[in-house]
Amino acid sequence: MKDFSILIVDEPDDLRERYLRTLESDGYSVEVADDGKQALAKIRGSSYDLVLTELEIPGVEGLKLLKLMRNLDPEITTIIVTANPTVEGAVESLKGGAFHYLSKSIPPEKLLESVNQALEKKRLRQRAELLRIEKKIRATSDLEGLSEVDEIMNRQGYEPSSLIAVLQDIQKQRRYLPQDALRLVSARLNLPLTRVYGIATFYKAFSLKPRGRHLINVCVGTACHVRGATKILEALERGLGVEAGGTTLDERFSLETVRCVGCCGLAPVIVVDENFHGKLTQEKVPSVLADYT
Ligand code: FES
Repeated sequence: MKDFSILIVDEPDDLRERYLRTLESDGYSVEVADDGKQALAKIRGSSYDLVLTELEIPGVEGLKLLKLMRNLDPEITTIIVTANPTVEGAVESLKGGAFHYLSKSIPPEKLLESVNQALEKKRLRQRAELLRIEKKIRATSDLEGLSEVDEIMNRQGYEPSSLIAVLQDIQKQRRYLPQDALRLVSARLNLPLTRVYGIATFYKAFSLKPRGRHLINVCVGTACHVRGATKILEALERGLGVEAGGTTLDERFSLETVRCVGCCGLAPVIVVDENFHGKLTQEKVPSVLADYT
């Protein structure tokens, strides 16, 4: 299987099937979208190296689709394959960033040649870009931290689907996600940096700021709120000298709030690292914290 993924955007017909089979039999991972809207939804939710699209498709006009796709992923390579080739269409498509503008009358082998050529060029460009980014990051960064990222990536693999596992390991090891590590991960996994940041900021388990050795999550869901979560939170803030969202000066604790941790019967609840402490009172807080050094 080749490392590249391709999206074919065209209405379902025999020719689309032939393109699909030709590309798959050459080892590419291929998906299809029937119209412009479906194509944009797929590009938002996934990462494709190359999009093969007809200009006349339902939903979104072809040249506009080209522009929208590049807005979503500036690295995406596109090849236009049209049933009605025109000189104006070719000029506009190439000006819009398409790699090739082809007529649907060409045999599938010629199409494959064009795809291989586009992706080889992309591979060389990515390689050069990766070397440039790595050189820049390594010249200015904490080298030990980056070697840890290298080890994690060797272990988790270089597939875009490894992203969350890689970020989890970095978070666990470094207690946060350093900016340079995210740039390196983005370059290595060939994912847009915006996608990597999107995941890093979506999940509460990740932090872009260094966290303490222990993470305290105070549940402020309805059941815990009714049973005094606010008082528990205040007691923690007073005792630790930080507000929710902060980290103690000695980096022992970070304090966060969460919505319902799923054991409302034990309300009010806090979770320290992976340990649940239920039916908590302000008085019990110091003895709970004493277990975490
Ligand atoms: S509301 Fe706190 S555990 Fe459900």
